[in-house]
Parts: sequence; structure tokens; C-alpha cells
Amino acid sequence: MEHLTSRFYRDVFLYLPINKKDKFMIRFLTAGESHGKALVTIVEGFPSNITISSEDINHQLKRRQSGYGRSARMKIESDSVQILSGIRFGKTLGSPISFLIENKDWTNWQEVLDIEKSAGSIKKITIPRPGHADLVGVFKYNFDDIRNSIERSSARETAARVAAGSVARNFLAHFGIHIGSYVESVGGIYSTQDYFNQFLQNKTSLGKNGWDISIKADKSVLRVLDKSQEKKIINKINSVKKNGDSLGGTFITIATGVPVGLGSFMHYDRKLDADIAFHLTSINAVKGVEIGNGFLSAEQYGSQVHDEFMNDGKSFSRKTNHSGGIEGGISTGLPIIIRAAMKPISTLAKPLNSIDLSSMKKVVSRYERSDFTAVPSCAVIAESMLAWVLAKHFLIKFGGDSLEETTDNFISYTKKSFSRIRKGFRK
Ligand SMILES: Cc1cc2nc3c(=O)[nH]c(=O)nc-3n(C[C@H](O)[C@H](O)[C@H](O)COP(=O)(O)O)c2cc1C
Repeated sequence: MEHLTSRFYRDVFLYLPINKKDKFMIRFLTAGESHGKALVTIVEGFPSNITISSEDINHQLKRRQSGYGRSARMKIESDSVQILSGIRFGKTLGSPISFLIENKDWTNWQEVLDIEKSAGSIKKITIPRPGHADLVGVFKYNFDDIRNSIERSSARETAARVAAGSVARNFLAHFGIHIGSYVESVGGIYSTQDYFNQFLQNKTSLGKNGWDISIKADKSVLRVLDKSQEKKIINKINSVKKNGDSLGGTFITIATGVPVGLGSFMHYDRKLDADIAFHLTSINAVKGVEIGNGFLSAEQYGSQVHDEFMNDGKSFSRKTNHSGGIEGGISTGLPIIIRAAMKPISTLAKPLNSIDLSSMKKVVSRYERSDFTAVPSCAVIAESMLAWVLAKHFLIKFGGDSLEETTDNFISYTKKSFSRIRKGFRK
């Protein structure tokens, strides 16, 4: 009896947590304060032999920093990654990869963010900005200086995420999966061309490769695809700068080449659409995510929304892609199309009402050097997060300790299981 009990515990506690799916779970951690010495990223779980260079990562970091409407800090910071571990001769080793990105602005903040000395005469920040993490941080962490809330809640941390996302991108590119994005609107100014709807109709004029869409968008200072729209938005940002206000907007993130079968309907936390929504809303100031035609589908007939199947004997596809490439929590094989909304920047040069926590008197909020809008950067960060979540589900499905092993598993799936279904159940 005792023997059986101990076997039961061994099975439950030893085997259940080492589920096959979890073994291939990639993860990353970031550390670092906005004006601290550096940002650090640790990436874990990728197979060996993925090609990655600091040049690849720096290119993505530069894209994150660009965009009309950003603050003067972007002129101080010119992000550059140092790869500390996990890569040898340009390829992943399978060991944890660590990155360091120095904050150039730190030299101006050494005293304010000193690690060991006491605060001394450093002035505490006592006036919270509405819309930022200032006040909630004070309540939750029992801070007596809002600086402590500001430093970690700042979107500076997303540079570390972009470094992690670069590994995911290179991994996915090996399998023909490419991620791109463009800014759809800023301050309610849209293009006259509905590029998003073209994707949903499976008739995009922007090309079949997600990254090509980013290359097109990167030519614009606002990452929009339409020159006349760009002009109108620049004018709006200029007037917002004069008025001390800020703007948000919407952006589209696309992944092409994603095979059928990533994600699962077997359990809520394995659904691809749910995981994408989580990863995108984890980005600072992102307040809404739509998969495919999202909210619009709530107003339409079923016959307008659902994507009819087609089979020409060679390939199995869908007429349209209103589902945005995901059905039942699983990728359909069509491009994954996500729209997300970023709220306007919280720090306003013409501040909103606030309370001074030292006197509890009504005051206007503080101003600290800030972006006026950051939608172009946000779209680049979203690319990284989408790359990350797709790489995670790709590895859950195909596993592998080396890129070669993952490739073999992938080919076996696409060539064997997949083509079996294509022929029909009876064959
Ligand atoms: C790329 C990027 C840059 C941002 N820059 C600023 C900024 O300069 N000033 C600011 O107040 N908020 C900025 N934000 C938004 C804040 O980080 C965000 O509003 C804050 O962390 C509170 O989180 P929440 O908006 O998700 O509630 C930025 C966000 C992103 C994604």
C-alpha cells in the first residue's frame, strides 16, 4: 500500500509538471529601470543553431526608437546591444541568452538612481500623472517617491523585449514565418485606402511577406503607408505639441507563413488568439486588440463573417480571412492579422489636474520630458511580441533541442500529417 502511495506521488509530482508541452516553453525576463545603468534581457528555451547577430538586434532596436512625435530622449539614446551569453560564432547554443542595452542617459541620472546611497537631498516626486502608473505604484508598493513607480513602468523596458523578440524573429524566419506592421491611424487620421480590409479579403496589394510590409512602412517617419495621410498626421502632431497635448492611434501587426496548427482549443491557456491578445496588451498603453475583423464581426451577419473553404485539389484554403488567421484558438495557415489600439501618451505638457501627495492639495500634474505620440514604436514592439508568442507556440508544437531537430519535426508534420488530410478522410 505504501509502495502504491509513493508511486502515486511520484507520478503526480514528478511527471505531471514535466509535461511535454511545457518542456518546450520559451521564456524571457527583463530587468532595468528607465534611467538606470542598463536594461538586461535573459532569453531561455530556444534550440541551438539559430543564427543571430548584434546587427540583427540593433536594427530592430533602431526601428523601435524611430518615429515622428517622440521625445528628445530618443536623440540621447542610440540603443546598441551587447550579447553576453548563449551565442557562439553567430549561432545559439541552446543555453540562456543574455543581452545588455546601456542607457546612455544614465550619466545624467546617477545620483537620482543611486543603488546604495541614501536619498539625501534628492527631491521626491509627489504629484502623480493621470493615465500613468504613478499613483497605483505608490499604493501597491508603498512608495514615498513616485520616481520608483516611473522607472519600471516606463516603456523604456520594451527595448529589452525587442532584443528578445529578435531571437524569435530569426527562429521563425528559418521556417518562412515573417512578421510586419504598419501604423493605421494616429489621432483618428486614417488612410483613404483600407489596407486592413484587403488582408481580410485575402487580396492584399502589400505583398505576401509580412516583413516586406514593415520595409514599406519604415520608409515613413510615422510608419504609415500613405503619404497624404502622413502629412495630415504630422500637422496634427505639430498642433498637439503646441497645445501641450498627446495622441494615440491604431496599428496592424501581421504574420505570414504561419502553418496550420499553432495553438490549441484543448484548454483555455493554450489558445493562440488569447495568448496573442495577452502579449499585445502587455505593451504599455495598448488598450485594445482585435483578431481579424474583431469588433466589426459583432455587427455583421454570419454569412459575411465566416471564411468559406476552397480546395483546388492541390491546396486547401479559405476564400477570405476575416478570422485573422485563427479559428478555435488554432492558426489556420492564413496570415495572422491583428489590429491594436494605443491610448494617447499620459504625460502632458499642458497638465491635467492632480493631487500633491505631500500636501494632499489640488495641483496640476507634473511634466517630465515625454513623447507626444509613440504609435510607430509601439507597432515595432508589437511585432516583437507577436514573434515571441508565435515562436512559443511553434516550439510547443514541434519541439526540438537543435534547429535541425525542430526542422525535421516541422517537415514531417507538413509533408505527412498535413498532406494526409489534404487528400481527404477516405484516402
Ligand atoms: C513606445 C512607447 C513610448 C511611450 N512613451 C511615453 C512617454 O514618453 N510618456 C508617457 O507618459 N507615456 C509613454 N508611454 C506610455 C506609458 O508607458 C504607459 O501609459 C504607462 O506605462 C501606463 O501604462 P498603461 O497605459 O498601459 O496603463 C509610452 C508607451 C510606449 C509603448
